[in-house]
Amino acid sequence: MPVVAFVFLAVDVGFVALSAQTAPPMAENVFKNIQVLKGIPVDQFMGTMSVFSSATGLNCTDCHIEDSGGDWGKYADDNALKQRARTMVVMMATINRTNFGGRQVVTCFTCHRGSSRPTVMPSIDLLYSSPPPDEPGDLIAQAPRQPAADQILDRYLQALGGPQRLAALRSYTAKGTYIGFDDAEKSPMEVYVKAPAQRTMIVRGRSGNTTTTFDGSAGWLAAPLTDRPVALIETTGQELEGLKAEMQLLFPAQIRQALTNWRVGFPTAIGDRDVQLVQGTTAGGAVVTLCFDAETGLLTRLVRFSVTPVGRVATRVDYSDYREVAGVKIPFKWTTTWLGGRSNYELTAVEPNTAIDAARFARPR
Ligand code: HEC
Ligand code: HEC
Repeated sequence: MPVVAFVFLAVDVGFVALSAQTAPPMAENVFKNIQVLKGIPVDQFMGTMSVFSSATGLNCTDCHIEDSGGDWGKYADDNALKQRARTMVVMMATINRTNFGGRQVVTCFTCHRGSSRPTVMPSIDLLYSSPPPDEPGDLIAQAPRQPAADQILDRYLQALGGPQRLAALRSYTAKGTYIGFDDAEKSPMEVYVKAPAQRTMIVRGRSGNTTTTFDGSAGWLAAPLTDRPVALIETTGQELEGLKAEMQLLFPAQIRQALTNWRVGFPTAIGDRDVQLVQGTTAGGAVVTLCFDAETGLLTRLVRFSVTPVGRVATRVDYSDYREVAGVKIPFKWTTTWLGGRSNYELTAVEPNTAIDAARFARPR
């Protein structure tokens, strides 16, 4: 597949030419036929594709030509749906600019809601049934008569084992398993975690290794070319901000410093569990929402999102199966769900306070 090799090469050359500090390459420099979604990095561009798919209910191959599965180069070819999607991007931006002062209030999802042809016919059933719960994660203000965030965070730290034990856990290595939304079987996984906020996960899948790394300030996803059009994708912008907050929560003793402007929303429920909703803002302005189990005080869900030109890419992490490691409770299971997929992670063996080579957290190759 020569074209794929070209894409891969283009990115690699980009990285060699640029220092670690400079901006990652833009979509139009990596892909071949970008006409409207210019000026955004590759990770955000792939985010726009997941917004398209989730909003319209169309598969990647619906808007890209049928046989493009297996050959990323063919994604550059146009068909009717792809061209229609381009006009929709322009239409959406025009609606927001001319009616809402440029605020992103209308997105693909606003009209489409999961179907390629937005419904014109009002639904009588919808009108007379109880609506599905709103996705938490939108910006909230401190709700009246709710406790201060500090109180909930303190209770959380106590539930985990207390500040002293938390401070004594500085790293861990773990083995476990990974299974994706449409995978038939689990794949083995290795996890390396180091305070204050470094993590590398290696999933050894059938088609190759998928490595996700956060080195404390930068993040990368390295995946086989069967899964992603580019072998190494750097995490950028609000996605990086949100990821950083998520990684800081691996060692929650400093949780207060991870976010600012803490506020507590009205209690809500996840399934049959009551939860308290706490929200904070990252240094760069990204919003992170945390759900704490009302009974145990433990963190059960994190919701974050990044804004792309066509809508929000929302990520949700659900934590469960907390077990003690060196006196500290850590979640042995977590599920990351976002517009583009669902990943189930499970730890089977955890070794606390191991020495981890700094190279483990370097940019994957
Ligand atoms: C609703 C239609 C639609 C869906 C669904 C869609 N895409 Fe796209 N895709 C587009 C459009 C439109 C462009 C070109 C964007 C532009 O011109 O700025 C594009 C461009 C691309 C490109 C760049 C190709 C090149 O070299 O120019 C890749 C890669 C891609 N899409 C991957 C995907 C993947 C993976 C999915 C599934 C997660 C997906 N797309 C789903 C409409 C779609
Ligand atoms: C203001 C409402 C609105 C917004 C916003 C909107 N669409 Fe649409 N879209 C429509 C309507 C209505 C149709 C169907 C038009 C028709 O039936 O001819 C449509 C049709 C489409 C189609 C063609 C589907 C088919 O089966 O022919 C695609 C693809 C599409 N939209 C993608 C998008 C994408 C991607 C976005 C976000 C960038 C978006 N739309 C934003 C209203 C909207």
